[in-house]
Amino acid sequence: MANLFTDRLLIHVEDIDEQHRRIFEIVEEFYSECMNGKNKDRILEIFRVLKGSLEEHFKSEEDYMVTYSYPEYEVHKERHNIFMLKLQALDSAFKGGFIPFTKLMEANEFFAEGFVTHISDIDSRLGEFLRDKL
Ligand SMILES: [Fe+2]
Ligand SMILES: [Fe+2]
Repeated sequence: MANLFTDRLLIHVEDIDEQHRRIFEIVEEFYSECMNGKNKDRILEIFRVLKGSLEEHFKSEEDYMVTYSYPEYEVHKERHNIFMLKLQALDSAFKGGFIPFTKLMEANEFFAEGFVTHISDIDSRLGEFLRDKL
């Protein structure tokens, strides 16, 4: 898995684009650590970093939406909530130190595809809205 983040995913809001780029870097790090499969603690550590970064990132977008009275705020926030619930479920699955390989693959697929889809379908619309406000 390499270069998940491409110009196609830019929403042209500088700090949001930078957060997306950074999150994909962590996803790629997570993926290669999973593939390497040797260091369970490191896998969990990266997973937690990823979860924290996503939490912060969603908060940034939600703050923008509230500040500029974005009409699709509720729908967008709901998508973030669903994302976080899924992360929470994965986090619980990883608790106790036993990490099934299938769960790791599920996590990777979720991060890569789920996040790409979210950005191109949902965040891009927010980007368009914010472009003439910022
Ligand atoms: Fe979003
Ligand atoms: Fe986003």
